[in-house]
Amino acid sequence: MDGDIPRTDGGTGRADGSTEDVALDPWGSASVGDYADLFAEFGIEAFDEVVDDVPAPHYLMRRGVIFGHREYDAVAEAMANDEPFAALSGFMPTGDPHIGHKLVFDELIWHQRQGGDVFGLIADLEAHAARGMSWDEIDEHARSYLLSLLALGFDPEAGELYRQSDNRAVQDLGFELGAKANFSEFEAIYGFDGETNVSHMQSVVTQTADILYPQLVDEPKPTVIPVGPDQDPHVRLTRDLATRVRYFKVTEAFASFELDDDERQLVRTAYDALTPTGNEGDDVRSAEAAEWLADYDPPAGEAGDTLRAAKPSAVETLRAGGKEPLRPRVRFLDRNATEAAFEALIEAVDGEKRVFEGHVDAFDLTHDEAESLARDVEIDHDGFGFRQPSSIYHRFMTGLTGGKMSSSIPASHISLLDDPEDGYDKVTSATTGGRETAAKQRELGGEADECPVYELYAYLLANDDDGLAAEVYTECVNGERLCGGCKEQAATMMREFLAEHQEKRAEAEAVLADLDIDLDSDRRGTGGEH
Ligand code: TRP
Ligand code: SF4
Repeated sequence: MDGDIPRTDGGTGRADGSTEDVALDPWGSASVGDYADLFAEFGIEAFDEVVDDVPAPHYLMRRGVIFGHREYDAVAEAMANDEPFAALSGFMPTGDPHIGHKLVFDELIWHQRQGGDVFGLIADLEAHAARGMSWDEIDEHARSYLLSLLALGFDPEAGELYRQSDNRAVQDLGFELGAKANFSEFEAIYGFDGETNVSHMQSVVTQTADILYPQLVDEPKPTVIPVGPDQDPHVRLTRDLATRVRYFKVTEAFASFELDDDERQLVRTAYDALTPTGNEGDDVRSAEAAEWLADYDPPAGEAGDTLRAAKPSAVETLRAGGKEPLRPRVRFLDRNATEAAFEALIEAVDGEKRVFEGHVDAFDLTHDEAESLARDVEIDHDGFGFRQPSSIYHRFMTGLTGGKMSSSIPASHISLLDDPEDGYDKVTSATTGGRETAAKQRELGGEADECPVYELYAYLLANDDDGLAAEVYTECVNGERLCGGCKEQAATMMREFLAEHQEKRAEAEAVLADLDIDLDSDRRGTGGEH
C-alpha cells in the first residue's frame, strides 16, 4: 500500500484517550467511538491486511475510508482470478440520499466494474416495520435512491435492483433461514425484547435473505456486502445462518471419535510429533498419542491457554481410543442432509471411505476437494450450498458542524438533492481542524485528521485523484494551507459535483422508468410515524 496517501481517521481520534463503550446497533445512532475497538470486540479484520491483494483498489480502500472487513480475501481472490463474485447492499428509504449513501453506491458500482454481479435493494419492509414509514413515503424515497445510484454509474442491465417487498425469492429464502434462528438469539444480538414488533423481526430475517440472495439466483460464490459497521450484527448472523442451513460440515478427524476444534489441534500436534517425516502411514495408536499429549505443554499466551483448557478432554478421548490407529482423514458430518443427499455423498466419495451413523470419513480427499464435493451434492439435492458472505466496512463521515453527520441536522450533512448553492454554503460554513488564527495555523499547521472538510476531499471531492487528497493533507498539516481558501476550493467542487449529479439524475429518470421495479406500490397499510 502506498504509504504516501494520507489516511483519514474519520475525525474520531479522541485526544483525551477516553474510552467509549463499543456497540453496534443497526437502528441506533450511526457513530462509532473507536474503530480499532471493533477489531478486538467483534472480530472485524483490518482492511490494511487485505488491500494489497485487491487488484487496483478503489480510492476509498487506498485512503483507509474502508477500514475493516470479514473474509474479503475470498472476494479479492475471485476478482484477481477472474472467477465469479458478487456484491450486494441495501438502502432503507427513510429520507433523501446523502453523501454517506454515495460511499456505498460507489462501492457497488466499483465492484460491478471489476466484473462482479451486483445487487442494490430497497429495504422497504425494514423502513415500514422498523422506522414506521408509510408506503407513499417509501415509494418516493426509493425512487430517489435509485436515481442517484443510476446517476453515479450503476449499470442496471448488468446488475439487479429490487425492493424487498417485491422479491418473492428473498421472502422464501428468509422463511427458510428464519427456521434456523430463534428469539433468544435476536435478543442477544439486537437487544430485541417483548416490546419489539414482529414485523421488525421479520425485516431482520429478510435482510439475512438479501445478503445470501446473490448466491441463490446463480450459484454459491464469494459475495461482499459493503456497509457501515453498524450493519455488522446482520452480517455476523447471516454468516452463521449460511452455515446452519448447510447439509454437511467438513472437518478433519483422526479416528472414529469426534473432536472439537481445539482438541483436534492438539491431536494434530501429537500425531505430527509421533509420525517421523516420510513415515506417514506407520501406525500411531490413540493411547500412545494420549501419553505424548499428557506430557505436552502448549505455548504460553492466549492461544496456548485455550489449548491447555482443551487438553484433559483430548487426552481422555485418545485414551478411550486405545489401540485404534490414528489416521488423518476428512469427515463429512451430516447436519441437515436429506437421506438421498447423504446416500449420494457416500456414493460420490472417491477412494477409501468409511461410513458411520451420521458421518462419512474419506481418506483420499483433501479438505478443499471435500468442501466442493459436499457443496455439489447439496446443490444437486435442493440445498443452498451457501458460502459465508464477506463484508467491508467504511468509516462514517463526521458532520459538517462537528459531531456526527445526521439527517435530522440539515447543516451537518449534504443531501444529493441539495441545491448546489446550498451545498456550497454548507461547506463554507463547516467547522474545520484549523487553528484560531492564521498565524497559529502557519506555525502549527491544521489538524486535517480532525477536519470534516478534509474528509470531504478524501471521501468524495478528490475522487480518484490521490495527488489532490495528498496535497490538501500535506499543505494543511504543514501550515501552508489556510481554512478560508481550502473551504472555498472544496465548496466550489461540491457545487459542481451536485450540479452534475443532479443533471445525471434527470437523465436517469428515463432509465428508471424502463426498469421492472414498481415505485407506485398500491399497498395498504398504516400511515407512518408522525
Ligand atoms: N439494514 C440496512 C440499513 O439500515 C438496509 C439493508 C437491508 C441492507 N438489507 C440489506 C444492507 C442487505 C446491506 C445488505 O440501511
Ligand atoms: Fe481543514 Fe483545510 Fe483547514 Fe486543513 S486547511 S483544517 S483541511 S479546512
